Amino acid sequence: MKVDILTIFPEMFEGFLTTSIIKRAIQNKFVDIKIHDIRKYSKNPHKKVDDYGFGGGRGMVLMPQPIFDAVEDLKKENTKVILMTPQGKTYKQKMAYDLSKEKHLILICGHYEGFDERIRTLADLELSIGDYVLTGGELASMVITDSIVRLIDGVIEKDSHLNDSFNNNLLDYPVYTKPVNFRGMKVPDVLLSGHHANIKKFREEEALKKTQKRRPDLLENGENNG
Ligand SMILES: C[S@@+](CC[C@H](N)C(=O)[O-])C[C@H]1O[C@@H](n2cnc3c(N)ncnc32)[C@H](O)[C@@H]1O
Repeated sequence: MKVDILTIFPEMFEGFLTTSIIKRAIQNKFVDIKIHDIRKYSKNPHKKVDDYGFGGGRGMVLMPQPIFDAVEDLKKENTKVILMTPQGKTYKQKMAYDLSKEKHLILICGHYEGFDERIRTLADLELSIGDYVLTGGELASMVITDSIVRLIDGVIEKDSHLNDSFNNNLLDYPVYTKPVNFRGMKVPDVLLSGHHANIKKFREEEALKKTQKRRPDLLENGENNG
């Protein structure tokens, strides 16, 4: 998979691309992630990418020219163009599964007051990572890229994400490590028993109990289901 991210703050992605699972996924060629500075596409002599919005109001607005040129330069036949916006569809695990099967994504990050409305015509999909407003789309694009890349076959053990929260409309079961007894809080005996069938049953029951208590909405509408 290839992911092209358009931003006016490329430096924000340094840690993201050079740490842990994302770093390994890039090194092992499961994904190719390229960060593109929108300014490089500006035809303005001063490389300007934003201006005041017509009609007045606060903040700067990203201009269409550099973003149209960037998308037209990077887009291929199988590309999905995704706009980061709090006005988009709320991002869910099911979408991460679907997007992990795509060949090529272009993610567009807005900033300041946002982007010129005409930029919307470039997008196949508009995504919001939740009902709150960030200063820019950079963190949103990292959230989306991270959640997709870990689902690409081979990036992590399939077992480790099959039981993740939101699969089968459930939250994940509780997990424990050493020590067996920490400040009087003990690891459930069944997990130390070595009895695989009982462990499986315990985990299924605990996942269901946890979901009923914390997120009954998942059991009712199942819209997070991966
Ligand atoms: C300050 S926000 C602009 C918000 C815009 N004025 C509005 O209310 O819809 C700047 C940029 O951050 C990104 N952004 C902010 N919140 C987001 C969210 N919840 N999900 C995805 N992107 C977001 C978008 O790219 C947006 O263009």
